[in-house]
Amino acid sequence: MLSNKRPIGFIDSGVGGLTVVKEAMRQLPNENIIYLGDTARCPYGPRPAEQVIEFTWQMTRFLLAQEIKMLVIACNTATAVALDEIKKNVDIPVIGVIEPGARAALKASNTHQIAVIGTQGTVKSGVYQSELQKKAPDAQVESLACPKFVPLVESNQSHSSIAKKVVAETLAPLKVARPDTLIMGCTHYPLLRPIIQNVMGDEVHLIDSGAETVSDVSALLDYFQLNNYHHTGEKTCQFYTTGSEKMFESIASDWLALAKMNVKHIDLEGN
Ligand code: DGL
Repeated sequence: MLSNKRPIGFIDSGVGGLTVVKEAMRQLPNENIIYLGDTARCPYGPRPAEQVIEFTWQMTRFLLAQEIKMLVIACNTATAVALDEIKKNVDIPVIGVIEPGARAALKASNTHQIAVIGTQGTVKSGVYQSELQKKAPDAQVESLACPKFVPLVESNQSHSSIAKKVVAETLAPLKVARPDTLIMGCTHYPLLRPIIQNVMGDEVHLIDSGAETVSDVSALLDYFQLNNYHHTGEKTCQFYTTGSEKMFESIASDWLALAKMNVKHIDLEGN
C-alpha cells in the first residue's frame, strides 16, 4: 500500500509555481512538497507547444521517480498545452492552474468583463477564453501577452523601478477595456502583484489562481483519501532547480518567508 506521506509534486518553468506552493503551505500544512523549476530553460512562454509538452514530460518523469502522490502543473503555459496529455497517461491525479483560475475570476467578477494576462504560449492557446466562455457565455474576455514580466521575476527585480515602468507600459492598452477582474494567467505574475494592482487600480479584482488550485488539490486529497493525516516528524519541502541554486533560493526564501531551504540543482534530459 502506497503511503499518504508521499509528497505532492509541483512543476513550473522557474520560480513562478512557488506562488501556488505558498498557498499549499498555508492550506495544507501537513503535506510534504517537492518542487521543480526548470529555470535553465525559462521562459517557456515563447517556445513552441511541442517543446513545452516535452519539457513538461521531463519534469513529470523526474517527480514521478520521486514517488509523488499527486502532480500540480503550477505553470499556465504548460497547463495550456500539456495538461490533458499528462492526465491521460499517468496514474496519479494531475491538476493544472487554468480551470481553477477561470472559476475564481467568474466568482469575483460582477460585470463579466474579464482581462487575462499571460505568456505568449498561454494567450495563443486561447484556453482561458474558452474556459471562461464555457462557464459564462456572456463573458467578454480581453487577453494580453506580457513577455517582459517573467524575466523581471526570474532576475529578482520584481520590486524595481524598471518593473514599475515595464508593467505600466505593458498594461496600458488593457485599461481601455475597463475589466472589473484581471486574471494573472502566469504563475510568475503574483510576484508583481502590488505593481499590477497599482497600475490597474484598486477597484480591479486580481486573480491569482494559486488559492483556487490548492482548494482543488485539497478536494482531490479528500476524494482519493490521500491526505497525510498521520504526519509525524518533520515535514519536508524539497526544491529542485535546473538553474542556479543561489538565485532560486534568494527569490524563494523571500517569497515563502523561509529562513532555511532545501534547494538542489539537477539536470533534466537535454539541459
Ligand atoms: N510560470 C509560467 C506560467 O504560468 C511560465 C512562464 C514562462 O516560462 O514563460 O505560464
